[in-house]
Amino acid sequence: MKIVIIGGGGMVGQKLAHKLAISGKLGNREIAELTLADAFSVPALSTTASFPITSVVADITNPTIAHSLISGKPDVIFHLAAVVSGEAEANFEKGYSVNVEGIKNILEAIRLTGNGYKPRLVFTSSVAVYGGPYSGVINDDFHLQPRTSYGTQKAISELLLNDYSRRGFVDAVSLRLPTICIRPGKPNKAASGFFSNILREPLVGIEAILPASLSATNFFASPRSAVGFLVHAANLDTSALGDNRAMAMPGVWGTVGDEIDALRRVAGDKIVALIKHEPDPVIEKMLSNWNFPDITSARAKSLGFTAESTIDEIIQVHIDDELDAKIPGLNT
Ligand SMILES: NC(=O)c1ccc[n+]([C@@H]2O[C@H](COP(=O)([O-])OP(=O)(O)OC[C@H]3O[C@@H](n4cnc5c(N)ncnc54)[C@H](O)[C@@H]3O)[C@@H](O)[C@H]2O)c1
Repeated sequence: MKIVIIGGGGMVGQKLAHKLAISGKLGNREIAELTLADAFSVPALSTTASFPITSVVADITNPTIAHSLISGKPDVIFHLAAVVSGEAEANFEKGYSVNVEGIKNILEAIRLTGNGYKPRLVFTSSVAVYGGPYSGVINDDFHLQPRTSYGTQKAISELLLNDYSRRGFVDAVSLRLPTICIRPGKPNKAASGFFSNILREPLVGIEAILPASLSATNFFASPRSAVGFLVHAANLDTSALGDNRAMAMPGVWGTVGDEIDALRRVAGDKIVALIKHEPDPVIEKMLSNWNFPDITSARAKSLGFTAESTIDEIIQVHIDDELDAKIPGLNT
């Protein structure tokens, strides 16, 4: 089978590419080729694979380029390319161009290919589609009223994917990802970045700034779980989904205080002491609209999607996957 990862140079895209390269299969299907498409030139993977991996520079806001990405008729398309939350709020036009026009260009390229071509398209939506006010938990029927441009763009994309699937042009699954934590590497422009920073930096002995209060809430899953969701969605029997192709992925609800307590249990007081509380009025104002409740993810769980059940587990996944099962900060 042929696979394309659009946004293959990003954090989740790279993790997925490594996983596919190592396993050689997607579910029980052998991979024949993998293309990593991104707006920038993606460096070669450090992992070798039994199949060819090609990187292409492709800006999906250009319809001609979107069309050329689909011309090889990939069986599975992972659509991960996005302008993330902070940037989509700061740059309105760029957000709509990439997050709405970009996916529309890919869908049109698929539709216009015709001749019965109907690939599986796995799309990374976000829990940002859920805006307040909240009362109680978010279940699968919770109405979508995003409070950010990014969340709105993800909700629009979900509707497009539902309609293109209903019309038989594509076989889509939209995954509302939790905040992926601990994000490895450098921070990106996601507004929620500090939820990762306050765990990632202390583990390697670097001070981290906490710009929000201990009561700020979020819904988390690890990068390893994110890859698991994508692989599971690529193999899902979509006949069970009906016309609604979107669902919230499972995760762990918690406050910043819960994150810090978990960090203390996993890594100790010396590591936690590296978190410096410096409230930032801009972040605090943003979070005042974002008192995120727990999400049941009942539909996804019933379809076999799984994630961690504690923040301690999420931290341990980072230590195992990114830090060679050690905590370097303990030696500094
Ligand atoms: N990381 C999270 O916490 C999180 C949470 C919810 C949803 N998501 C979604 O998951 C997906 C992957 O997230 P990530 O953390 O890997 O993001 P990322 O920013 O690391 O990767 C996104 C990639 O998209 C690429 N891209 C941007 N514009 C493009 C364009 N015009 N053409 C082609 N490629 C373009 C970027 O260059 C980048 O490599 C995104 O769709 C994001 O919105 C992520």
